[in-house]
Amino acid sequence: MLGTGFIADFYISALHGQRSRDRVIMAYSTTKERAKPFAKKHNIHHWTNDLHEAVNHPEVDIVCIGLRNNQHLEAATAAAKAGKAVMCTKPLARNGKEAWEMVKAVEKAGVFAGYLEDLVYTPKNLKAVDGVKNGAIGRVLWAKSRETHPGPHSPWFWDKELAGGGALVDLGCHCIEIARSFIGKNVRPVEVMCWADTQVKPIDAEDHAIGLVKYANGAIGQFEVSWSFRGGMDLRDEVMGTDGTIWLNNFLRTGFEMFTAPGKSGYVAEKAESASGWLFPVGDETNELGYNHMFTDMLNAMESGGQPVETFYDGYVVNEIMDACYRSAKSKKWEPIKLKEWRGLPDEAVQVQKEVEYDKKHWLLKEEVMPDGSKKLLLKDKKTGKLVQKEMSE
Ligand SMILES: NC(=O)c1ccc[n+]([C@@H]2O[C@H](COP(=O)([O-])OP(=O)(O)OC[C@H]3O[C@@H](n4cnc5c(N)ncnc54)[C@H](O)[C@@H]3O)[C@@H](O)[C@H]2O)c1
Repeated sequence: MLGTGFIADFYISALHGQRSRDRVIMAYSTTKERAKPFAKKHNIHHWTNDLHEAVNHPEVDIVCIGLRNNQHLEAATAAAKAGKAVMCTKPLARNGKEAWEMVKAVEKAGVFAGYLEDLVYTPKNLKAVDGVKNGAIGRVLWAKSRETHPGPHSPWFWDKELAGGGALVDLGCHCIEIARSFIGKNVRPVEVMCWADTQVKPIDAEDHAIGLVKYANGAIGQFEVSWSFRGGMDLRDEVMGTDGTIWLNNFLRTGFEMFTAPGKSGYVAEKAESASGWLFPVGDETNELGYNHMFTDMLNAMESGGQPVETFYDGYVVNEIMDACYRSAKSKKWEPIKLKEWRGLPDEAVQVQKEVEYDKKHWLLKEEVMPDGSKKLLLKDKKTGKLVQKEMSE
């Protein structure tokens, strides 16, 4: 485990959780005094402040990167050079250039690599994506993902140089990948329009951003991210399809609401802002945030010689989308997404037939049941383009 901070704790609670046989055997920290107490806390037998000693340890099969964003490239390169499989937390890197170097490093070394995008693996998300793949909501037209909270827990997140950006890089990476997984990861993201600003916090990076990502099949992804939101952590997704709709709420309304006057409930949930009054606790954060399903997929894929759902290439695509977002926020225009290599379907293969046929002569616009129980059909004549109405009584 590279890193001994917030995410490393979560990762270990998933890896060592329940009756798991997986074990973290080495802890590495950049900070001298943190490695040993962290290792002791999690019953890890080896610890070090030397990155190369950590990744080259003979008992290490897979290296898990939970370090600050500015250290991901160096750590992934070291793991690849040591011939070790590697998993890296989000965002894959600070920008597309670094992310591409990471993709190349693991591919050159021929090692397994997985992108730890946990929010694609939440139990709700997995089930929703399955439904979409089965055709439950038809063709996906719009996928919106929102992550907002009152701001991150360590100083480095707020430093543009170390983090690579602000709320967009920190939270937008989740939202962009969630929308991609609904729209289809083999559909090319083409261009973006983004607004980003620093509305509240005394920092150089943005603390709030909203963006649109246009895909080659005409679908649109939307993200809303903020470090200035009050009220806890808001994690919501909405998907609109030609035949259906999905609304997901992963955190503030999970079906568990508690009122406590004395405020003695204990830990409530990540970034909760109050401990009394009405609370929205999360039953098992490690599970609800997708960490369990994520590591199961990663380690199964590694053992079977396959690919995980989230790969380094996915992380790279997300970084390039975010780079285009920064260009758009500056130019105030739609900006193209510049992928060094597209590994999905060609654009011609994802074009869709928009019209729904009613009969040989007409397209169907819509049908509606009226208050008197009759059914009304709105049709368009294929030849003349005229709109017509057809009433049908039951
Ligand atoms: N949902 C997610 O997937 C998720 C959530 C949070 C963070 N992350 C990612 O994980 C990476 C690390 O983030 P984090 O939240 O663990 O950051 P963190 O600040 O808690 O820890 C990062 C590093 O800083 C060091 N550190 C932490 N607290 C310290 C202290 N008090 N004194 C000295 N050093 C200290 C630790 O050694 C650790 O390796 C980032 O890339 C971040 O984007 C992912």
